Amino acid sequence: MVKVAPSILSANFAALADDVAAAEKAGADYIHVDVMDGHFVPNITFGPLAVKAIRPATSLPLDVHLMISNPDQYIQEFAHAGADIISVHVEACPHLHRTISYIKEHGVKAGVVLNPATPAESIRHVIEEVDLVLVMTVNPGFGGQAFIPGMLQKISQIRKMADDLGLDVEIEVDGGVNAETAVLCREAGANVLVAGSAVYGKNDLKDAISSIRGV
Ligand code: DX5
Ligand code: ZN
Repeated sequence: MVKVAPSILSANFAALADDVAAAEKAGADYIHVDVMDGHFVPNITFGPLAVKAIRPATSLPLDVHLMISNPDQYIQEFAHAGADIISVHVEACPHLHRTISYIKEHGVKAGVVLNPATPAESIRHVIEEVDLVLVMTVNPGFGGQAFIPGMLQKISQIRKMADDLGLDVEIEVDGGVNAETAVLCREAGANVLVAGSAVYGKNDLKDAISSIRGV
C-alpha cells in the first residue's frame, strides 16, 4: 500500500503539535518536515528545535526534507532532534556519497532528493546506498504550486532503476500532489506521496489522506 506523508508546511504553525497529531489520527504514515534556509531555496521554515518540539506529538516517523545549503553541518542536530529519515538534495551535496554515509552513521534513514531539472541518472551511483529517493514535482520553496507532469517519466525511470537492481528503496514524490495527480504518481511507481495543501487545506484530513492513497 502507498504511504502518505502530510507536509506540515501547510499546517498551522501556531498549533504544530496539534496538527501533527491530527495527521496521525487521520491515517498518515509519515510526517513530512520541510526545512528551508533562505539560501538553497527562497523561503525559511523550521530548524532542529522545531523538529525536537514536534517529536513528542507523534509516534510516526519524521521525514525531514532538508532544502538547505551545506546540509552536512546540520545532520547531527536533526538526528538528535528526532528525525527518522533525513533527505538531502543532490544539488546541495558535492560529496553526496559521503553525506549519505554520514546520515546513516547517525542511525537515521537516508534519502536523496532531485529538483525538477536534475536527471534520474544523477543518483545511479548512490541509489544502492539510500533508503529513499524523493522526486520533486515542483521547484522547492513553497507549498501550493502546480504539479509538473514531465516528472512522471523521471519517477518511472527511478522505479525501473530500483527494480533492475532489486532494491526495495522507497520512491517518494513531493509537490502538487492531490487526489488526481496522486493516481499518476502511483502508476509511475511512487510508493510515498507527500501532500501539504491537499491535506491541511481540507476540513476532513482522513478523507483527504485516503483520497491521495487511493483506498
Ligand atoms: C516544497 C515542499 C513540499 C511542499 C508541498 O518546497 O518540499 O513538501 O510542502 O506542498 P504542496 O503539497 O502544497 O505542493
Ligand atoms: Zn518537502
